[in-house]
Amino acid sequence: MDKLYHIVTYGCQMNVHESEKIAGILSELGYSSTEDMERADIVVFNTCCIRENAENHAYGNIGMLKKLKARNKNMLIAVGGCLTQQINKADDLHEKFPYVDIIFGTHNLNKLKEYILAKRLQKKAVIKIEECDGRIDEGDKPLRTSYPNAWVNITYGCNNFCTYCIVPYVRGRERSRKSQDIIAEVKELVADGYKEITLLGQNVNSYGNGGADIPFYELLEKLAAIEGKFRIRFMTSHPKDFSEELAKVMAGNSKICNCLHLPVQSGSDSILKAMNRRYSSEDYLKKVEILKKYIPDCAITTDLIVGFPGESEKDFEDTLELVEKVDFASAFTFVYSPREGTKAAEMPEQVDGEISKRRIMKLIELVNSQTRAHSALFVGKQVEVLCEGYDEKRNAYMGRSEHGRMVYFGCSENKIGEFVAVKINEANGISLMGEII
Ligand code: 5AD
Ligand code: SF4
Repeated sequence: MDKLYHIVTYGCQMNVHESEKIAGILSELGYSSTEDMERADIVVFNTCCIRENAENHAYGNIGMLKKLKARNKNMLIAVGGCLTQQINKADDLHEKFPYVDIIFGTHNLNKLKEYILAKRLQKKAVIKIEECDGRIDEGDKPLRTSYPNAWVNITYGCNNFCTYCIVPYVRGRERSRKSQDIIAEVKELVADGYKEITLLGQNVNSYGNGGADIPFYELLEKLAAIEGKFRIRFMTSHPKDFSEELAKVMAGNSKICNCLHLPVQSGSDSILKAMNRRYSSEDYLKKVEILKKYIPDCAITTDLIVGFPGESEKDFEDTLELVEKVDFASAFTFVYSPREGTKAAEMPEQVDGEISKRRIMKLIELVNSQTRAHSALFVGKQVEVLCEGYDEKRNAYMGRSEHGRMVYFGCSENKIGEFVAVKINEANGISLMGEII
């Protein structure tokens, strides 16, 4: 019988895809997947440290494994991802959770196989964290778990050093994959029947920067020229690097979805400066204007932070004003979380937790009203949905529209992996309900 693995993933799409790479390595070692952690021979935690709650969540879950490990001494526990890559965190983790067998970082995930084999031969925990050497390993094949969607990394790391953000410290400097490697991977995915390709990078717009390769909009054009019916999405775009050329390419290629995730973070110029975002609220609004000129129905989504050090009531009101002006299709809202080692964590004017709470409630209210209004626009209309799965609770198939809205629809046949036309009858917050036509 196969040995079993269970992977717990925290954080963003980038981590979801990295867990697919971990799954690829484990399956090469003869493991197969189980949903039931108690039955697993190896449990891997792929952690995130972008905000304190993501970190605490991982700590809580790793802590809960102590009992399981006591019952099943042969179970291997591995912890990897952004959390372990922070300075001294691997040793802290080992001290806190001595029953963890393997601790690895973001730059040596490809060596997990080696670490598992080493751990089988020794009693001691294997603790290996490496610094970024700037290389991109094209080696291991991910075991994809999101059919008909596929994630494809185009860049790794980040050079922006937004003052609140830990990512540049744990993911290293920005490096781009070669365009021919990306194009070859996407061609293969399309040939294998994948219908939605999401290009991933901390800042996809700066793809190719500093290298001899093509700019991002040209890469998109080349990918959109690949034969077959499929969609292309990409994330995340940094407003400072968003260009008119990109808007033109998006508008001119039907395979590229008419939606853009463009994190603004704040609407206050002094806070944007303190965040080192390198654009003003006016610059941001201009980019939105350019985008809407080429793609009037583009679904623009964003990330917003409240309670950044020094944020006054007026700064917060500027954020509300910007959100009103842009009218986002949806937004992720966060309370600022100090991250050790970042510049913002050292700033003197940390905002009181109660104030941040009040601000985020107000912001969520505004964002939700915009989300509902955007959803309501689809009622009575026909949208094309890529069917992704079946929702047992709702007794309906589900999938996303081009604009990124989750759509639920009843259907007697299995449509997973197919594009279907759905008439929208009802909107409920961020999701839509309809019938297949
Ligand atoms: N505190 C709160 N939110 C943060 N983000 C990144 N770092 C922090 C932090 N320290 C948010 C930003 C980013 C998203 C991925 O996470 O909004 O765009
Ligand atoms: Fe973090 Fe800024 Fe880089 Fe995004 S662009 S990963 S927020 S440093």
